Amino acid sequence: MPEPQRPSLADATRGRILFGGDYNPEQWPEETWHEDVRLMKDAGVNSVTLGVFSWAKLEPRPGAREFGWLDRLMDLMHDNGIGVVLATPTSSPPPWMGRLHPETLPRDEDGRTEWWGSRQHFSHSSATYRRYAAAITEDLAARYGSHPALRMWHINNEYCTYDWGDEAEAAFRRWLQEKYGTLDALNEAWGTAFWSQGYGVWNEVLPPRRAHYMKNPGQVLDFKRFTSDALLECYLAERDIVARHTPHIPVTTNFMPFWQGQDAWVWAEREDVVSVDIYPDPRDPFGGQYGALVHDMTRSQACGGPWMVMEQAAGPVNWRGVNHPKPAGLNRLWSLQAVARGADAVCYFQWRQSRQGSEKFHSGMVSHAGEHGRTFQEVKRIGAELALLSEKVADARVEAAEVAVLLDWNAWWASQQDGRLSSEADYPQVVRAWHRALWEAHTVADFAHPEHDLSTYKLVVVPQLYLMTDAAIDNLLAYVEGGGTLVAGFQTGVADEDDRVRAGGMDARLRDLFGIRVLHEWWPLDAGEKAEVEGFHGTLWSEEIEAADDVDAVMPYKGGELDGLPAVLRRGRAWYVSTLPEPHTLRTLLADIAADAGVRPTLTGLPAGVEAVRRGGLLFLLNHGRDGVTVPVPGRHRSLLTGADVTDAVELGRYGVAVLEAAS
Ligand code: GAL
Repeated sequence: MPEPQRPSLADATRGRILFGGDYNPEQWPEETWHEDVRLMKDAGVNSVTLGVFSWAKLEPRPGAREFGWLDRLMDLMHDNGIGVVLATPTSSPPPWMGRLHPETLPRDEDGRTEWWGSRQHFSHSSATYRRYAAAITEDLAARYGSHPALRMWHINNEYCTYDWGDEAEAAFRRWLQEKYGTLDALNEAWGTAFWSQGYGVWNEVLPPRRAHYMKNPGQVLDFKRFTSDALLECYLAERDIVARHTPHIPVTTNFMPFWQGQDAWVWAEREDVVSVDIYPDPRDPFGGQYGALVHDMTRSQACGGPWMVMEQAAGPVNWRGVNHPKPAGLNRLWSLQAVARGADAVCYFQWRQSRQGSEKFHSGMVSHAGEHGRTFQEVKRIGAELALLSEKVADARVEAAEVAVLLDWNAWWASQQDGRLSSEADYPQVVRAWHRALWEAHTVADFAHPEHDLSTYKLVVVPQLYLMTDAAIDNLLAYVEGGGTLVAGFQTGVADEDDRVRAGGMDARLRDLFGIRVLHEWWPLDAGEKAEVEGFHGTLWSEEIEAADDVDAVMPYKGGELDGLPAVLRRGRAWYVSTLPEPHTLRTLLADIAADAGVRPTLTGLPAGVEAVRRGGLLFLLNHGRDGVTVPVPGRHRSLLTGADVTDAVELGRYGVAVLEAAS
């Protein structure tokens, strides 16, 4: 049966960019709620997320229901024109659950219990936890399903718990039985002939608990896959309940970007709205690029359609070693950047900064300084500007990207195993380096799964795909065969889907594609070490490659053991880069290859640090620098934020933003 048509973010936004955040009024006396509403209206807040951590308040004793306070809040929001994203509170069970049902608590790889007193202390595989979670979800959906304030469901929060406990063990085994059918198949896939690990009966198969030395990589890889699937089951169970009550209300759960616990490609397909929490470090000089990467990733998971910033910080977070505030203008810049790259919702954790609890030093839209504080004043400005942009932007698409960056959780999981050659080559960092090269070249990219249809892209970039399925390899070969240009970074195509190294150290068809006759050895580099290549330096990694006779171009290593051997090879439209070039070289290399493939940057002549993105016929210009710049923009435009006419150039101050519409 085809899936019934599901609602989308547009059903929640109703033509207005959502602006607001997590609202935790249970931390405050009711008088404060009215003050909150006044300030929300002042700031143009049109959406709040309620109930994320309210389970103990909603169900103070097993089976009890205390909905009165939430009734009053839902009404209060509706009366003031503020929509509600209603959360199921299932990420933080009340203490009574752990006390009465200790099996609901997860255990770590040493078998130690993760107790209540923090959050996310639930075992995804506990039948008791799932029963209680379903019951409270059912009652919330029944009670508020027809409430006029309800705009969206937010299931749980940042699903992330691993569990090595008894029920997880049994569930892992069931998952494996389903995947492999027989123990022989499992033994084969995990390579258990190594170190006498062969399993004779299913009950011997465990989650990868504490062991004397390195664990079986196949077992660890499958445990990650299983965990993502087990958490997804929890999500789907709650999603199905709310969808049954309210088929017209979209459902989401918020991702953490680059989080190992969920294969976001798989999850996103099961969400009506893809939402994400983004916390770049305000001190990171490339925080803007990190944001762009997360935006591109999330938009791609939303199949190019609008997506939601569920959480960001108006000021400092409080979970880094040192937590810096956002300098004036940065919150606005990063908020509008998200909109430029496809967001139809700009929300925060959280509305009002807490005065107690673990996050009392984490910023809120209303900081400890209150309504006169700089943070709230900037929030107000952002709210007003989003309202200005809503009509032209909401539901519009970002201009189709001509470049795709391939990203895969399985490749990530497998590449980070114990026993690898280098712990320096961190997958997210490598992906980030390649994306940064595109960002600096003013080229908007999508992300894609290696098995997705790539035919609409002129250039496909593979920062690294250590593990590739046969289907992914077929896909890449067909892409190049069909006229596409491909650039792959080091350690691509090394292992098959069981993490078995492919004969020759790289799939034979890929070697042929890139013009590699023999891949003799991998030569990882130490932290800070550089490999000299003609014209540039490589970092992190190098490879001892013998090129095929008919390779079209080569940039050789210079000096050292690899002297004269190819660092970069090209055969036809397929490039292989066996090291990570330093940023400026990677940028030039990629920009040249992109230009050759017919890819055009969004705008030419942009000053460094200025980002340009087109969405819905509008041109967003974002200055990530602290100095003012003049940006050449040929033609006549109207600036939507200032109402001014712009001819041939626009001035952007520190962290300045312009949104331009071509003058008719
Ligand atoms: C997120 C979480 C929020 C809050 C925030 C702080 O991971 O969903 O509840 O803790 O981080 O940055």
